[in-house]
Amino acid sequence: MSRIKYIFTFLLLWSVLAHITNGQEVFIGNVQGRKNLCLNGKWEYVLDPYRAEQLGWIPVYQNAVPRDKTDRVEYSFNAAQTLWVPGSWNTQEPELMYYEGNIWYRRKFDLLEGVSAHKRYFIYVGAANYISKVSVNGKNVGQHEGGFTPFCFEVTNLLKDKDNYVIIGVNASRHPENIPAEINDWFNHGGITRDVYLIETPQTFISNYFIALDKSTLNEKTRCITGQIQLNGTSFPKEVRIQIPELKIEEQAIVNDEGVAKFNIETKKLQLWSPDSPKLYQVNIMSGDDIVSDEIGFRTIETRGKQILLNGEPIFLKGISLHDENPLQRNRANSKDDAALVLGWAKELGCNFLRLAHYPHQENIVRLADKMGFLLWEELPLYWGIQWDNPSVLKKAKKQYKELIERDYNRASSIIWSIANETSNIPSRNAFLGELVNFVRSLDNTRLISAACKKDQEVDGHPDNVYTYNDPLIEKLDIISFNEYLGWYGGSPAECRDKSFKMGFEKPVIVSEFGGGALQGLHGDSLTRWSEEFQVYIYEESLQMFDKIEGLCGMTPWILVDFMSPLRQLHGIQDGWNRKGLISEKGAKKKAFYTLQEYYKRK
Ligand code: GCU
Repeated sequence: MSRIKYIFTFLLLWSVLAHITNGQEVFIGNVQGRKNLCLNGKWEYVLDPYRAEQLGWIPVYQNAVPRDKTDRVEYSFNAAQTLWVPGSWNTQEPELMYYEGNIWYRRKFDLLEGVSAHKRYFIYVGAANYISKVSVNGKNVGQHEGGFTPFCFEVTNLLKDKDNYVIIGVNASRHPENIPAEINDWFNHGGITRDVYLIETPQTFISNYFIALDKSTLNEKTRCITGQIQLNGTSFPKEVRIQIPELKIEEQAIVNDEGVAKFNIETKKLQLWSPDSPKLYQVNIMSGDDIVSDEIGFRTIETRGKQILLNGEPIFLKGISLHDENPLQRNRANSKDDAALVLGWAKELGCNFLRLAHYPHQENIVRLADKMGFLLWEELPLYWGIQWDNPSVLKKAKKQYKELIERDYNRASSIIWSIANETSNIPSRNAFLGELVNFVRSLDNTRLISAACKKDQEVDGHPDNVYTYNDPLIEKLDIISFNEYLGWYGGSPAECRDKSFKMGFEKPVIVSEFGGGALQGLHGDSLTRWSEEFQVYIYEESLQMFDKIEGLCGMTPWILVDFMSPLRQLHGIQDGWNRKGLISEKGAKKKAFYTLQEYYKRK
């Protein structure tokens, strides 16, 4: 074979191999526990509202730069402005406030230790809303859909020692076939909204693991920790090791041909995790020259009749709902400090439970909830207007739920996966969500499943005095949850005294939303709409009404903090904020905060 042919064949093979290993979407868990280069910071950006790539113009992800002074380049990062990553773009520049189109971001980076032929490299993005296209050094590596779950692409073979660049194009536009669909009562923060890392791994590495207490051993003297470890690579070691030093545990597990190792570890000394005692153990997992460490709590969650049992004991979930927003910064929450801000408020309120509405929140809040002792309800934004009869939407829902469960499976705080919010009881929705429940259970049978439903009478303020709950979806759920705004969206708070509740199923009940709006600092009598006193009146009457529910196991009133929403435009009162928070966007508590705090003290 001539030298030219040889070189051509080599280059062809190399590019095919590079293509095969690159662009693979791999889920890598616990990225904070791995060797990584954090790419957070200022990224150059190019605005592209008409998605010029559709015209075949020089795609910005080629990082075009003029060859000489006569060359024409119209999309260049070199003369570009910058945006903070992570962060929503909307509140970083005035002209981006309501922008929902395309923005192309670029970040340049060097590999301080140089590229190693013995390592693999991945670009990891904690979340980017809503569709992302990723390229590295001019090569496309993949696309992700979904604004709230992590994604990760392999970029091995594309990197150089220096002068690398990653370009991520993000489109934040809303569409009926998206999850969420087009209209939602929250601000559509666009951009790369969570951390970005370059992850470095050995050739064969631990991509993820799923570890939990076997609930059947809860009441045994010898309890069992059960788990599964997933390796990624072209060849696997015969076994992996699991260490829990504090329990003096060091066990081996056999790896099968798919790179999966399953284990059951017995222990007599396990201290259970709970809100009152959020005990976490360091767990080390080792495979060849890869080691990943995590902090994991062990507990069980189940239902028995109308009770929710944590570690076998009935628990009342003193909760509050919250969005994933730092209101003081008008930004998507994206840091440990943001998590500490809102969890500090929830702790002061007397909560042991949080509804992370209406989409997966940042991982920092789940990990901090593990440490502080909060139980969590997590959900996908299967919210208003979903295309239930569109198979591609069900496929997206399954993929996004898989990404969420892969991320949070090992978090003791997370106890409920919720699959929908305020969706109508129609055959296509029941079929869609019924299949999604089965899928979620197939991924994780250690947690409870619910959905925020409505009563049979639907409308808030309905004149019936007995509210009934026979939504067929509830049959598939472990917990009956519902949103009820009697006194705010319909009827008066006084009518709460006339109501009673008839559940069509023998299951525990959580009131997943109730409340009313108030402008912090606006005062009047208890019937003055938007006054703090009116909000107190709604809470007082609602709490008394819900206490009548047999099997009430918890509640997550709507909502901890005022949050941004383009649906809320009443000038002088809302001005783009939903005012149902117990705390204002400036961090000022309203009177109803103390009404709920007193109620929880008595629970
Ligand atoms: C709905 C919905 C929330 C919304 C709230 C409200 O039930 O679930 O997302 O913000 O009510 O009207 O304020």
